[in-house]
Amino acid sequence: MKALSSRRELLLRLGTGAGVAALTGQAVASLRSLVPNVSYDAPTTVKLGPTAEFPDGLKFLPEQRLFVFREGKTFHAISAVCTHLGCTVRAEALARPEEKAVEGGTLRLTHRFLCPCHGSEYSGDGGNVAGPAPRPLTWYRLSVSPDDEQLVVDLADPVEPADPEGRLNLA
Ligand code: FES
Repeated sequence: MKALSSRRELLLRLGTGAGVAALTGQAVASLRSLVPNVSYDAPTTVKLGPTAEFPDGLKFLPEQRLFVFREGKTFHAISAVCTHLGCTVRAEALARPEEKAVEGGTLRLTHRFLCPCHGSEYSGDGGNVAGPAPRPLTWYRLSVSPDDEQLVVDLADPVEPADPEGRLNLA
């Protein structure tokens, strides 16, 4: 009788142990599923294309919401995201380009930027000059990819407007 009871106890314990192990495994799997294996965030470093595809002047890249300017061998990039509430600003060509002295050279301003949402205006170097925009448009650092010579922007690496660091010179 005692042997039967201890066998029953053993089976009960084994069953309970198996149940606890199964529940623990299930709980771990459920918790693990909450942690993604991949990041769905957009990459911050983006290849924009070969430098030859950027003619002198301005090129708007809608996907990155970015204006890339080229003057000879010098490039700079200004965000098209309005610093008020994030609408996409549009560029308007100036009747007469302006020159602005900046550290390390001169910036040729060919456009100004206008926000269609609440009327903010920005100068050609991205400075906020009218409307509710609280800050200048963001400049981003550009580089050239060593493997395929494409222009690369790092959208996580803003630079001060007109900072020499924000101008890429390929000379
Ligand atoms: S979002 Fe540009 S002015 Fe409001």
